[in-house]
Amino acid sequence: MSKGSGKPRETWGSKIGLILAMAGNAVGLGNFLRFPYIAAQNGGGAFMIPYFISLFLLGIPLMLTEWALGRLGGRYHRGTAPAVLYAIVRHPIMKYLGILGILLPFIVVIYYTYIESWCFSLSFYSLMGKFQEIGAMASGTSDPGAYLKPFEGFINAFLGRTSPGFILHPSAAAYIGFLIVMVINLYILYKGITEGIEKFAKFAMPLLFIMAIILVIRVLTLKNPVDPNLTAIDGLKFLWEPKIQGLTNPKVWIAAAGQVFFTLSVGMGSILTYASYLKPKDDIALSSIATASLNEFGEVVLGGSIAIPAAVVFFGIAGTMEIASEAFKLGFVSMPAIFSNMPLGRIFGFLWFFLLFFAGITSSIALTTPIITFLQDEFKWSRGKAVAVIGVIWFLLSHFAIFFRDIVDHLDFWAGTVGIVFFGLILVLTFGWGLGKLERIYKEINEGGYITLPIWFAGIIRYITPVILIVILIWFVWSDISQAFSLLSQGAGLVEAFKASKILDFFSLPALISKMIIIGLFVFLGVMVGKMREFEETPLSES
Ligand code: PHE
Repeated sequence: MSKGSGKPRETWGSKIGLILAMAGNAVGLGNFLRFPYIAAQNGGGAFMIPYFISLFLLGIPLMLTEWALGRLGGRYHRGTAPAVLYAIVRHPIMKYLGILGILLPFIVVIYYTYIESWCFSLSFYSLMGKFQEIGAMASGTSDPGAYLKPFEGFINAFLGRTSPGFILHPSAAAYIGFLIVMVINLYILYKGITEGIEKFAKFAMPLLFIMAIILVIRVLTLKNPVDPNLTAIDGLKFLWEPKIQGLTNPKVWIAAAGQVFFTLSVGMGSILTYASYLKPKDDIALSSIATASLNEFGEVVLGGSIAIPAAVVFFGIAGTMEIASEAFKLGFVSMPAIFSNMPLGRIFGFLWFFLLFFAGITSSIALTTPIITFLQDEFKWSRGKAVAVIGVIWFLLSHFAIFFRDIVDHLDFWAGTVGIVFFGLILVLTFGWGLGKLERIYKEINEGGYITLPIWFAGIIRYITPVILIVILIWFVWSDISQAFSLLSQGAGLVEAFKASKILDFFSLPALISKMIIIGLFVFLGVMVGKMREFEETPLSES
């Protein structure tokens, strides 16, 4: 079958395994931690209309685009963006643009794995009754802010964030948890696509959905002990009663689009790499939509029915929005506080954090796969060698996120916010225009399909999605740098003003270090891309 050198490239073992692996890729911390806090921060019901519009006009078209690009690359036995983009548009610049499809997920995984490891450690703290202990100290206050304080203190101590400075002093538990989680990640990656990723997803994903459903049932039956009028239904209403005022606020639109990208894992090249392990004529039309649907079930139905309603029952809507003003408070402070005070709270707390851990790990392996696949495909490295080398770099770079304050924010801004939209645009333009006529896209998305998508779907990919992405991108850059300009016009000094913008800030340590990490990795990958093996003119396996 393979005309290429070496062993034939792996392909997914079964349809169900493929779908679960893809769902594992998409369903992550984004669904259960990021979604609730972004939705609450942006006004609940006011957020959901832009969210669904972004899902249909950006998220699903991009999901299909990445599936198509990945399958196309697989025909050349190549599974990462530098080669795939070059296969379509034979200009060297495409290889260099394609670097983003390896770099962005790798930047995210540097901080993502650490957050995932908190969940792992905290699940055991919960089982051991730590939160009950804290809850016993906290009881007696009726003020939500005061009630949450000791839980917040615990998390801050766990992560070593109690004193202000730039250097953090994480607890041994946090660090050991991180080491264990690293090892599990590397082990799964080492086992490979079918024996590692697919096998793990087949076991983890059903379990994840079961854990989430148990938690949803528990949360929806919660009652406020003092005010019986406040129930979980109020939380659901907060999220689901559409409010139209959000529609005129560009910030809400941007937040919604950003969340759709992140949760679906699109715009990073990670779905593309997973799809490169398809067979050349495997269905993508139905499978990509099935993946997106599973993710959305895990996001708006399950993810939306845990952290927000639970917080609303105990702290009211105003209190919930207040909690959601900080990124991790809803998941890591409010949830343990709520579970600390109920029968079987230890078990529910465990389920919550273990759910997060499972959601996280099936995504962190997906974030690391592109760089590993790149070394295997382009340099014929063995999987063991690729996993070992990348494992060391990944482990070392994670220390920036573990020991330095605000690095996570900056890396997330560049990779998870700006990069994801920019690269999404590159992908959709390459696929939507690089192949030629609209009919070619139509044919490609429906090739081998279990369903036939209408031609206007190809039209959205070609015309609508890119235009919206360009607008979002300009808005992103503008809203970031305009903060610096407005300070300048108020008479602030250059350094001080530039520090207000993540793009222009070259002065604060977190900004500088983050930029150096990103540029360093980009240069490294640039050199590698320059040395990629020869590219064949025609697909290797058309069967
Ligand atoms: N979609 C994952 C989540 O929701 C994150 C992710 C983004 C994973 C991009 C892979 C690629 O947490």
